[in-house]
Amino acid sequence: MSRDVAAKAWGKPNVFRKDRYSMFGEGLVMAESDQWVLHRHVIAPAFNPLKLKGMGNMMVESTRKMIERWNYQINYGNNHEIDVEREIMETAGEIIAKSSFGMEDDENGKIVFRKLKELQMVLFKSHRFVGVPFGKFFAIKKTLDAKKIGQEIDKLLISIINDRMKRGKSQEDLLGHLLQENNNEEGKRKLFSMRELVDECKTFFFGGYETTSLSITWSLLLLAMHEDWQNQLRDEIKQVMGNGDFEVDLNLLHGLKKMKWVMNEALRLYPPSPNVQRQAKEDIRVDNFTVPKGTNIWVDLIAMHRDAALWGSDANGFKPERFMEDANGGCNHQMGYLPFGFGGRMCVGRNLSLMEYKIVLTLLLSRFRFKVSPSYQHSPAIMLSLRPTHGLPLIVQPL
Ligand code: HEM
Repeated sequence: MSRDVAAKAWGKPNVFRKDRYSMFGEGLVMAESDQWVLHRHVIAPAFNPLKLKGMGNMMVESTRKMIERWNYQINYGNNHEIDVEREIMETAGEIIAKSSFGMEDDENGKIVFRKLKELQMVLFKSHRFVGVPFGKFFAIKKTLDAKKIGQEIDKLLISIINDRMKRGKSQEDLLGHLLQENNNEEGKRKLFSMRELVDECKTFFFGGYETTSLSITWSLLLLAMHEDWQNQLRDEIKQVMGNGDFEVDLNLLHGLKKMKWVMNEALRLYPPSPNVQRQAKEDIRVDNFTVPKGTNIWVDLIAMHRDAALWGSDANGFKPERFMEDANGGCNHQMGYLPFGFGGRMCVGRNLSLMEYKIVLTLLLSRFRFKVSPSYQHSPAIMLSLRPTHGLPLIVQPL
């Protein structure tokens, strides 16, 4: 659609910006025109492989903590059924909070994390009336709660940022990267105001939290349903990583090819961000059409990713091998597979999520076998993101 058009001509619909203001503020997901160009330019290098490596250790640590919890429940509670969605969500939230604004030795960081999760619950745990005129009055309590929690989070983040600035010690997280960039502008106007720093911390958290954890959650369901693929991934892990007790090595992780096909296929069947939105910020010419300024476009990824006209008659089947030869999964349209969006606004965090996905799955598959629990009810629903309505209970057996 927009290959020939500057990304800044396509912004985000106003209705979407308003609805998610307490989560993203004016952060990168919502920024427009020149402000978006500047922020994207400064933020993108925070996701380069060298910077990500430092975050890998946090991922291993949080995943190992989760594994300990599972082992405890299995060994002492003799209960093999685990709500994998809840558990992965908790772990991915911890990872993203650590990699966004750190919370190792900072009590405020832990409180922000709890409050962000609270805000996420208020906003996500039910169907909403996005874009419906007067929609916020149908859920007035929720709207007020979200606003109040949003303000508390802002206050805490400001105190974390001030504290960091005072200490002047650089940390290997995304906030550390932004502060470093601000310091490089010594004597000049700072790149990021306090408001912008706060919004970017929240944006990283909300942009990366649900999406990554849902990609892992849906993959575990698919792997539990397709034991042959579980075994293939386990074999690949053994070959590439040894016994799974690894130090983070990006080159080794890169060798997990089949795991990447599985991730791609899970993102095709269950895209965590089920639609991509644009608003034309000016009249935009596309071939012979003019898209008038103000037009909203919502691309429905679920419909597109399962369209037999694009994917063939097996569009609904789980076939990770379709990504073996082709990063686009053999889709017969180059814009038919868009789990991370498209054009200049494509997801900036996709390398981080790929690394997290590989680390978490490697550690889990090296220790456990997964089967679908009889209590699982398949009911994917769009609650902003695409979630399993009743969680994902799996039977987890130590290997
Ligand atoms: C499997 C995991 C993920 C999925 C499926 C996903 C999906 C998406 C999608 C669909 C978009 C919109 C792109 C567009 O409008 O064309 C997006 C944008 C974005 N994502 Fe992700 N995302 C994931 C992980 C992450 C992570 C880990 C982070 C950060 C820590 C992140 C941060 C962002 C940001 C900041 C944007 C806005 C980019 C811009 O407008 O320039 N995402 N993501």
